[in-house]
Amino acid sequence: MELVSAIEERCSTRAFLNKPLHREAIEGLLDLATHAPSAINLQPWELVVVSGQEKERLSRLLVKRMKERNISCGPGSKSPLPEHYVQRERDLFDVMSPNLPDQISFQDFINEGSCNFYGAPTAIIITLDEVFSNARLTDIGILVGYFVLAAHDLGLGTCPVGLITAFNDDIKEELSLPDEKHVVIGIALGYPDTKASINNARSLRVPLDEVVKWR
Ligand SMILES: Cc1cc2nc3c(=O)[nH]c(=O)nc-3n(C[C@H](O)[C@H](O)[C@H](O)COP(=O)(O)O)c2cc1C
Repeated sequence: MELVSAIEERCSTRAFLNKPLHREAIEGLLDLATHAPSAINLQPWELVVVSGQEKERLSRLLVKRMKERNISCGPGSKSPLPEHYVQRERDLFDVMSPNLPDQISFQDFINEGSCNFYGAPTAIIITLDEVFSNARLTDIGILVGYFVLAAHDLGLGTCPVGLITAFNDDIKEELSLPDEKHVVIGIALGYPDTKASINNARSLRVPLDEVVKWR
């Protein structure tokens, strides 16, 4: 597949088939994703592949903690968002809402779905060592970009899941991760359920002149 087509076609997958991934398929994808560039070629990321019973345990734990602590998916902003960002949130709500499974609110779907990795057979947990500054989050972002595009090319669906960072300590304990690592993001990974309506939702992008300035 051409890269341009992958970029144009990829979208987040929020319903997956109950079909496990072969380890070789995941390894092939990880190999492609870790071709991503990084500052001084530090490759500061670590990826934890969580499948099977461990993934189910992790999902159950995160859903439980999310309910106990009333955590909700949000923009993680330091102060209230300016209106044009709020509008982009509303636009996402508008495209997703008609495609939600029956009888579930948008917020419940996103919160529970994120903690459950949308039922994907595999969750990828990406961590960064505490020795690094926030500047290295850029490297992780690029890795995630490579990951989601490569996955699409291989016929796999992904959804980046930032919500899980609210449960950094729980995840570290459950997966026996060392103290010095912190969770930057998760990715739900599996075969997309092409019959699920939610996977038809297509998020919009603002016109270039809203986000690009020429000098
Ligand atoms: C850093 C990051 C964190 C995200 N966190 C979540 C999340 O916690 N839950 C979720 O459902 N989607 C999450 N997403 C997916 C975004 O909602 C999605 O990428 C965006 O709406 C654009 O849609 P698209 O991926 O279909 O193009 C996240 C995406 C990124 C890049």
